[in-house]
Amino acid sequence: MKILFAASEIYPLIKTGGLADVAGALPVALRNKGHDIKLIMPAYQGILKKVAPIQKSINLGNPFGVGDLLLLETHIPDNDTPIWLLQCQALYEREDGPYVDKNGIDFQDNHIRFAALSWAVATLALHGNLIDWQADVLHLNDWQTGFAAAYLKSWKVDHIPIVTTVHNLRYNGSFDMNQFSDTHLSPELLSMHGMEFYGRFSGLKAGLVYADAITTVSPTYAQEILTPEYGDGLDGTLRAMQNKLSGILNGVDYNQWSPEKDALIPQNYDIDTLHLKQTNKLALLRENSLSEDLNYPVFGVVSRLTEQKGLDLVLHVMPSLLDKGARLIVLGSGDKNLESGYLELQKNYPQQVAVRIGYFEDYSHRIQAGIDALLIPSRFEPCGLTQLYALKYATLPVVRQTGGLADTVFEEGDKANGFVFKEANGESLKLAMERCMACFYDGNRWLQKQQNAMRYDYSWEAVTDQWVDLYQSLLNR
Ligand code: ADP
Ligand code: GLC
Repeated sequence: MKILFAASEIYPLIKTGGLADVAGALPVALRNKGHDIKLIMPAYQGILKKVAPIQKSINLGNPFGVGDLLLLETHIPDNDTPIWLLQCQALYEREDGPYVDKNGIDFQDNHIRFAALSWAVATLALHGNLIDWQADVLHLNDWQTGFAAAYLKSWKVDHIPIVTTVHNLRYNGSFDMNQFSDTHLSPELLSMHGMEFYGRFSGLKAGLVYADAITTVSPTYAQEILTPEYGDGLDGTLRAMQNKLSGILNGVDYNQWSPEKDALIPQNYDIDTLHLKQTNKLALLRENSLSEDLNYPVFGVVSRLTEQKGLDLVLHVMPSLLDKGARLIVLGSGDKNLESGYLELQKNYPQQVAVRIGYFEDYSHRIQAGIDALLIPSRFEPCGLTQLYALKYATLPVVRQTGGLADTVFEEGDKANGFVFKEANGESLKLAMERCMACFYDGNRWLQKQQNAMRYDYSWEAVTDQWVDLYQSLLNR
């Protein structure tokens, strides 16, 4: 099968969160099963240095009046996956992240930047002759590529099956109606049953309504988003389309994330040499100049600091756990109040708390290997990848029971691999962290959970068949 896979971030070229991990790994897993995948993403600043030499370049003209759109054919060196990079200096070559400026503010032309990406995606899907490769299926991810479904609809093309994957419903890519003409989409699409969204227009809604199949990244989240509580204003739309919605759990690239082979951690270990994990714990404490007593549990956070992740709750409850000897290592960035809240906590507990604001891929591996428990008290979590990584490193997750966290972390029974609480409040989190601490001091129970955790197979190989079946079902229609 030939699959055109479009995303706004792809590891190892660029990453702000889990979407990049998924877009970097699922296509590789599909290729390993013999499918023919091509990726497409913008050529953000610095990207060309990370890919193989350009093999071919196609000028798509200047449909948005901001400069020519150039498609550059290359591949990702690490795994040879073919990728088309969309180059347009005015749109993509900026010093900051892919979506926001250095103050964390969305670029004011994001609707054009991602409409242009989506337009190029739709063009490649439709005109395979441009690249001598005709996609059988188009796979879109989140709002940034959702507009592609709208272009195909605008152009009255309906013979190319479209799958849209929702990684996060909260980011609906909606814009002021008076910017709609910048997209050159047909105004006919602006109905309540089209891409209109509460008086605005939305890239995500376009991706949903004009797709042949919608997937999201865990079975539980696929159910949750049908309710007003988790639906972010799109639950009505989704309920009406339930027959084309399914949840397929994300996987893990164990070549990147496993303590046996991870070259980014001080000491490798596996299920038979679990005691060696202590070396990583000691190194992590030392690196952060924290007290080196290994008898107390070290909690960790590796996360975007946003409302979604519930990390304000950790700030509330942490002092009482620190007073009982726990330690905390935080890596994250985002919300300025949360950033300063964590820096303040560090100031108050310099021997026990280490906070690093920013984005550091290598350090995230040392944390996963060195901490005892990872905190993910999310208010909602479409899938969550960090708990899956944690499990492999015998780091026990403490999670709220929602979305993909509910599907992968269990406190009771013979699959027990972590700690789970239900209500999104400090008290419930605190009780779960206290249960975690008590278990830590009960060496056998802790070891049992660690071994359970490490035995899980959340590899992409385990779920690729579900993807192949889905694509195939669309082709058979
Ligand atoms: P989300 O996509 O909602 O941010 P996920 O758990 O799916 O959450 O994926 C987050 C990914 O980003 C993981 O690979 C995690 O290790 C990584 N990550 C998040 N914050 C940071 C950070 N500050 N530094 C390094 N990696 C980070
Ligand atoms: C989103 C979600 C996260 C998910 C990731 C990859 O960013 O917040 O839960 O794991 O996408 O699908």
